[in-house]
Amino acid sequence: MGSTNPFNDNLSSFNKKFFHLTLYSLLPISLLCIYLILLSLTPFAPTKLLHSTTISTYHYSSTYSSPPSTSFVGKNKVYDHEKSCDYSNGDWVSDMRGPLYNVTTCGTIKESERCITNGRPDLGYLYWRWKPSECNLPRFEPNTFLNLIKNKHIAFVGDSLARNQLESLLCMLSTTSTPNLVYQDGKSNKFRKWHFPSHNATFSLYWSPFLVHGVERSNEGNYYNTMFLDLVNERWAKDIDQMDMIVVSTGHWFLLPSIYYESDLVLGSLNCPEFNHTQIDFYVPLRKALRTTLNSIIERKVAKGNRIDVIVKTFSPAHFEGDWDKAGTCSKTKPYRKEEKIVGGMDGEIRRIEIEEVESAKTKANKFEGIRIEVLDVTKLALLRPDGHPGPYMNPFPFANGVPKYVQNDCVHWCLPGPIDTWNEIFVEMMKRWE
Ligand SMILES: *[C@@H]1O[C@H](CO)[C@@H](O)[C@H](O)[C@H]1NC(C)=O
Ligand SMILES: *[C@@H]1O[C@H](CO)[C@@H](O)[C@H](O)[C@H]1NC(C)=O
Ligand SMILES: *[C@@H]1O[C@H](CO)[C@@H](O)[C@H](O)[C@H]1NC(C)=O
Repeated sequence: MGSTNPFNDNLSSFNKKFFHLTLYSLLPISLLCIYLILLSLTPFAPTKLLHSTTISTYHYSSTYSSPPSTSFVGKNKVYDHEKSCDYSNGDWVSDMRGPLYNVTTCGTIKESERCITNGRPDLGYLYWRWKPSECNLPRFEPNTFLNLIKNKHIAFVGDSLARNQLESLLCMLSTTSTPNLVYQDGKSNKFRKWHFPSHNATFSLYWSPFLVHGVERSNEGNYYNTMFLDLVNERWAKDIDQMDMIVVSTGHWFLLPSIYYESDLVLGSLNCPEFNHTQIDFYVPLRKALRTTLNSIIERKVAKGNRIDVIVKTFSPAHFEGDWDKAGTCSKTKPYRKEEKIVGGMDGEIRRIEIEEVESAKTKANKFEGIRIEVLDVTKLALLRPDGHPGPYMNPFPFANGVPKYVQNDCVHWCLPGPIDTWNEIFVEMMKRWE
């Protein structure tokens, strides 16, 4: 713990409480603060979160054991192409072609990810291509993608990275065909649906950051999440009959204080000491939530003789590399080289759990026809892109009046266009080899 009191008198009791809670935390307190803001979709209150210091109690392990193979093994055959290429490992190489789309040609980008419109001056981050070690990743072809999903409904389910990825995909597809927004739940952007009349293809977005049933933390309500790890969230699961493919994204919300239930009993809690529950970390709850989700998909869809494809996107690391509320916390303008960063620590552990649960779901689903389930392993390629986040350009022209004392930074989500477009380039290759 630093020797200076990181809090001044302006601090609300809410945040004082947080200070004490984070003594137990796995996370640096600076990260916890930014997570509360970025993930909760609540307004930023800078005066309430001042003077956080980086109190890092999490120990990143230096060793990295290689995970189980992620290649998709069909019921009866192993695809050669698959054996020959692993898209998850590689390096970012310079590519002067740049993105397929720009902010002016795509209307579906959230304001805080419109980095160029918000005044980000350096554009070098747009000129890199992911080069898998053993093959080339083809450039995204919108028509190929749309032809593969003709008459299908693809649901993106999970946290704000699911939204970020779907917005990237819609921007790339919009370069050849225009989607119509056919559903929106009130003013929020949490539940939406688009239709491409040209291919009768539907995309939907379901906000469900734990995947399972629960109540998210909020400024108005509890400071902690409540999760029911054995109950799938019906908000998306009730529509499963209409879905042909589900893309799942989860992880970041599990880092916040939470109380976990299983079979109506408290399993434990993370950073909620006043309840006297057993303090547990979030790895077991994350694993249980994923297992419940994948089991529910199998039981409700596949066991009834219906087809479905499931893609679990692996954890996308954040890049806070300084005080979260200061200019420069994710100000790098170039990718890391592959040898500079290895996937490890918390990022590696979450990724490993996701891969293991997909493997175990494959085994369970093996006795049924009609399910394809695979990980979209983006952890390494995302880890190497500290330059791809909005940072201060999550807000318009943050330095218009000089560099302010406190700056809100987003080092979790990705600028559009940006490196997240690559996730969809891999996504389409996965679908191509399924055909
Ligand atoms: C965006 O794309 C349009 C159409 O291709 C082009 O006319 C325009 O110059 C581009 N804008 C930027 C900022 O690249
Ligand atoms: C359009 O796609 C939906 C699935 O999203 C499907 O149920 C429907 O039959 C399709 N319509 C036609 C005319 O093929
Ligand atoms: C937690 O334990 C302390 C000490 O035993 C006790 O004073 C307190 O009332 C307990 N809190 C709850 C919510 O049970």
